[in-house]
Amino acid sequence: MQFDVQPSGGMVDAESRAASLAAPGFGRIFTDHMITARWREDSGWHDARLEPYAPLVMDPASAVLHYSQSAFEGLKAYRQPDGGVALFRPERNARRLADSCRRLALPELPVEDFVAACEMLTRTDVEWVPDTEGASLYLRPLIIADEVGLMVRPSASVRFLLIASPAGSYFSGPLRPISLWLTQEYVRAVPGGTGAAKCGGNYAASLVAQREAMDHGCDQVVFVDGVEHRWVDELAGSNICFVLDDGTLVTPELTGAILPGVTRDAILTLARDAGRKVEERRVDVDEWREGVRSGRITEVFACGTAAVITPIGTLKWAGGEVTAGDGSPGPVTTELRQALIDLQYGRADDPYGWRHPVG
Ligand code: COI
Repeated sequence: MQFDVQPSGGMVDAESRAASLAAPGFGRIFTDHMITARWREDSGWHDARLEPYAPLVMDPASAVLHYSQSAFEGLKAYRQPDGGVALFRPERNARRLADSCRRLALPELPVEDFVAACEMLTRTDVEWVPDTEGASLYLRPLIIADEVGLMVRPSASVRFLLIASPAGSYFSGPLRPISLWLTQEYVRAVPGGTGAAKCGGNYAASLVAQREAMDHGCDQVVFVDGVEHRWVDELAGSNICFVLDDGTLVTPELTGAILPGVTRDAILTLARDAGRKVEERRVDVDEWREGVRSGRITEVFACGTAAVITPIGTLKWAGGEVTAGDGSPGPVTTELRQALIDLQYGRADDPYGWRHPVG
């Protein structure tokens, strides 16, 4: 795809940008530019452009607004020790977006076009990449169905959008164990559904349970499977891992109803290569409750692009709660988190070729 470049000449002055970068939060501030491209059944991908960040003009009868035919991604660009910038595993996100698009009956964006778009936006808005520890530039690629009409059928017209947002940690405040609410009423995914795709509908389905979590004083909701209601699935916005007392790392296996996280995959690889035993298998929620009580489970953490590695302390449900650890991040969580962020920020060797420098 050829991108038509229409830069804005800088919409935000350096002083305001510096103030935003000092405390970016998550997903609140957006950079000066965005990338858009269009697809039509009869002409394929076309009209790709980099342009000033601006609201979209959309017909209110666009398919995505009614039937949620959309898929998205999340990846980050990290400031490197030499002042340069590197994306983390963008091809992996490109392939997952293609997988999600197949599930949502959307056209796939070629991997090289996805990566070129991420490089171009990062390069153009490079001054928005924070240089503070723990912060990065979060890229949000999105594909939406914009055919006008109310028939329930795959859209013959689609838009690709890419926006970027300087981001600190997803959970506010210093790194601390978060609390989870185990929802017993709601599920986010079922076999044959869209659980393994990254689509807005999955997140929409999580929100009522997330509200339930907040009403119970918890940071996030955790879901169990939609059939037997006992196998740990994932959180509203990340995967989950457990550490056993012999150092084994355990995470729910990818059943087709769980998102195949890029961070999840990176952590499993780093742990295996460090000689740690890793198990991808079903985890019964009772194994979690009893394991924490007996000491068999020593640490629990969330992992995802936005969540990075965030320790999990308390699990609450209607009728009880258990707390793993002593309120500070456990040693294995800390070790894996450090190995991951050292690799992302260019402080460790990259034998996997995961860093993708943006020249
Ligand atoms: C991510 O980790 O990139 C996510 O998409 C999770 C959430 C912010 C939706």
